Amino acid sequence: MSEDKINYLKKIIDEKIEEYFTKKINLATHNKLLYESMYYSIKDGGKRARAILFILTYGIFKENYEDYFDFALAIEMIHCYSLIHDDLPCMDDDDLRRGKPTNHKVYGEAIALLAGDGLLNEAFEVLIKLSIDDRASLKASYEISKAIGGFGMIGGQIADILGENKKLNEEELRYIHENKTGKLIKASIISAGILCNCDQDILSTLGEFGEKLGYAFQIKDDILDVIGDEDHLGKSINCDIKNEKSTFVSFYGLERSIEIYDRLSLECMDILDRLSKLKDVNLLKSFTLKLIKRNN
Ligand code: IPE
Ligand code: IPE
Ligand code: MG
Ligand code: MG
Ligand code: MG
Repeated sequence: MSEDKINYLKKIIDEKIEEYFTKKINLATHNKLLYESMYYSIKDGGKRARAILFILTYGIFKENYEDYFDFALAIEMIHCYSLIHDDLPCMDDDDLRRGKPTNHKVYGEAIALLAGDGLLNEAFEVLIKLSIDDRASLKASYEISKAIGGFGMIGGQIADILGENKKLNEEELRYIHENKTGKLIKASIISAGILCNCDQDILSTLGEFGEKLGYAFQIKDDILDVIGDEDHLGKSINCDIKNEKSTFVSFYGLERSIEIYDRLSLECMDILDRLSKLKDVNLLKSFTLKLIKRNN
């Protein structure tokens, strides 16, 4: 039952993305290639984890989540932009993403750079449009913007790049994981709470959950880079070793990384159990478990 609902949400998100970008491609003239390359990377293959977390969190408190589908799409646009840029030769230099050649492999580096820029700007166009007459959307968008800037995702990405070929300490490693990946995941959850006008207690519980889940998400990504299966992952494995990245596996070893991951996963579920005393969080729990157990 909950699995059906989660699959249904993913299908709707995929359809909305298709609708959004085919419309833009049809409207485009000299900028058509830009939208085609954006659509190439966003159209399929992703788990839509951040959009689904946003929608399921919203659904805990209010029923009209359809009104905020565009907010969820904007989050996926931001995430997709970060992947296109992350794969560039000057960054992680990866050839495979979501089971197909990376954007720059198909369109070249200049267009891939612009496709990423385009997706980020498109996301803010959507968020600002929602915010014109809606203060809650403005506050929620502000949360997203803080999470992806220099004290968020980009801060994490620069620490990740500067950390190549170096032995980082525990605190530096934590900074990278919390920022490059954790912050957007956390903001996807908190922004839904903000849109629902949740009180401060609930927002801090959501924040605690989002922070742990986001952190754990990147630890699992590090683990899958070593023991994952390329067909399931849709991206190449052993990329971190190739780039001499500091990861959980390089720092703690595989076994200890899995132990840390398992402990954090339990803590995530405990927070949801706490919340379940106040609200029905079953769908969010099912999806969290699915993310915890993922093999891609
Ligand atoms: C991959 O994110 C990059 C990280 C931030 C760890 P996802 O694992 O969510 O990738 P998709 O969206 O499913 O392709
Ligand atoms: C990516 O981390 C984080 C962002 C894109 C912000 P990784 O570099 O580990 O992600 P993958 O493994 O390429 O998906
Ligand atoms: Mg990277
Ligand atoms: Mg990468
Ligand atoms: Mg990785």
